[in-house]
Amino acid sequence: GTVPITLRVNGQMHKVEIDPRATMLDTLRETLHLTGTKKGCDHGQCGACTIHVNGQRANSCLLFAAMQQNKEITTIEGLGSPDKLHPLQAAFVEHDGYQCGYCTSGQIMSAAAMLRESWGPADSDVKEALSGNICRCGAYPNIVAAVQACRR
Ligand code: FES
Repeated sequence: GTVPITLRVNGQMHKVEIDPRATMLDTLRETLHLTGTKKGCDHGQCGACTIHVNGQRANSCLLFAAMQQNKEITTIEGLGSPDKLHPLQAAFVEHDGYQCGYCTSGQIMSAAAMLRESWGPADSDVKEALSGNICRCGAYPNIVAAVQACRR
C-alpha cells in the first residue's frame, strides 16, 4: 500500500502517494522526477545522493521520505539552474571539478553546506568536509580548487 505525504522540496509543496518504506532518494528521483540527486551505493557510503534537510547535509538514501514531512528539503535543482548557476556550480565548471560528473551534485551539496559552517581555511578542511563524497574518477584536486575558489 501507499501513504499520502506532503514534502517541501526546493521551496515547493508536493503532495505525493508513496510506499511508506520509500527512501527520500527514490522519492526525489522516481516520484518527483528530480534526477539531479544521484544513486551510487544506496547505503550511505558514496555521498552521490547528498541533499540538505533543514540546511544540514544528509544522505537521502538513508532517509525515509515519510519521515521528512515538515522539513525543508533542498536538492541540487534548488541550488541553481542552467540559466543561473550557483557560485559553486560555476566554480566546478571553471576548475573542471569532475570527470564523469556522477558525484558532482553530491559534492556541490556538501560544499554548499560547508560554506555555511565554520571550517578552517586549509585544503585539508575542504577534504574533511567533503570526505563523505567519493569520486571514482579521482578529480579531488580540482574539486578542492573549485570549493576553495568560493571560500576566498
Ligand atoms: Fe546514498 Fe551512496 S547513494 S550514500
